[in-house]
Amino acid sequence: MAQTPVKVTVTGAAGQIGYALLFRIASGQLLGADVPVKLSLLEIPQAVKAAEGTAMELDDCAFPLLSGIEVTDDANKAFDGASVALLVGARPRTAGMERGDLLQANGGIFGPQGKAINDNAADDIRVLVVGNPANTNALIAQQHAPDVPAERFTAMTRLDHNRALSQLAAKLQVPVTEVKKMTIWGNHSATQYPDLYHAEVGGKIAAEQVDEAWLRDTFIPTVAKRGAAIIEARGASSAASAANAAIDHVYDWVNGSEWTSAAIPSDGSYGVPEGLISSFPVVSRDGRWEIIQGLEIDAFSRERIDASVRELEEERAAVRQLGLI
Ligand code: NAD
Ligand code: LMR
Repeated sequence: MAQTPVKVTVTGAAGQIGYALLFRIASGQLLGADVPVKLSLLEIPQAVKAAEGTAMELDDCAFPLLSGIEVTDDANKAFDGASVALLVGARPRTAGMERGDLLQANGGIFGPQGKAINDNAADDIRVLVVGNPANTNALIAQQHAPDVPAERFTAMTRLDHNRALSQLAAKLQVPVTEVKKMTIWGNHSATQYPDLYHAEVGGKIAAEQVDEAWLRDTFIPTVAKRGAAIIEARGASSAASAANAAIDHVYDWVNGSEWTSAAIPSDGSYGVPEGLISSFPVVSRDGRWEIIQGLEIDAFSRERIDASVRELEEERAAVRQLGLI
């Protein structure tokens, strides 16, 4: 019997990440090469026409797995029956905007979208927030969806993870596939902590194979500030690599994974206050992310994890103060 198509909703579908993402979803890379999908493209009214243009192109690919496409500016319709929601559309920071303004503007997007997910999505809904500030936007959406299990709301640090794999592999001149047990801790921001004290190359701890100055003064800032470096070089933020990371995150969540990184609601592990959506070392089993337990955290790592988690706490306090959660 043919499988029922899985509804995947993409917000910000007419944006640059949307354009890099949709064709890969429709070709089967998000959920699997044998899983039919139905796409729902959510945009703001001014961008619906552009999203319709992308939908025309998706039609023109005649993807065997794509069973239908809808384009809408109505969140209730977009999330109706959705099993996967990729929340990409967000309000970018513009000149003169304070952090509170940015959080307020995004609260106006992610609060209502969380409620629309709560009221309309399928019981197995999985949400990945890509739009920045991703961790706190995910928290806002989650707090407006009390009927959805909290752990279904996640934020993307897989791009940071992939950046870390690539930087380390280049340094040690090994294929990226040789690097195991990489972890990004904390926020998807410049405070994130890419951890080489648990990462392994050739079965040996990565931190022991590079000099400490490179780890501290080159590796960590290169990974943590890579987003800004891409913006500087391209004149626009990362798009294809962000879409690629979103595909990796959801594919692994649904199909299982080895050790990777994802921002998921904290259960208090590693001293991260419960409820914060923070990046951890994780593995996906039976369709759920699990935090890898029992790692020893040295003083250097502790300080960096704490700094990023402190920033997440500050963001949570700010959105609470603004009445957004
Ligand atoms: P973009 O400006 O090209 O596209 C964003 C789209 O979102 C636009 O088409 C806009 O109309 C739409 N949009 C805005 N508000 C919306 C709403 N309420 N509902 C539906 N759609 C809405 O931006 P982009 O380059 O595609 O990036 C999208 C977001 O992803 C940004 O916030 C960016 O900072 C973030 N990002 C995150 C990561 C990560 O690793 N987590 C990486 C790269 C980019
Ligand atoms: C990235 O990491 O590439 C983006 O989050 C950068 C940005 O600010 O959009």
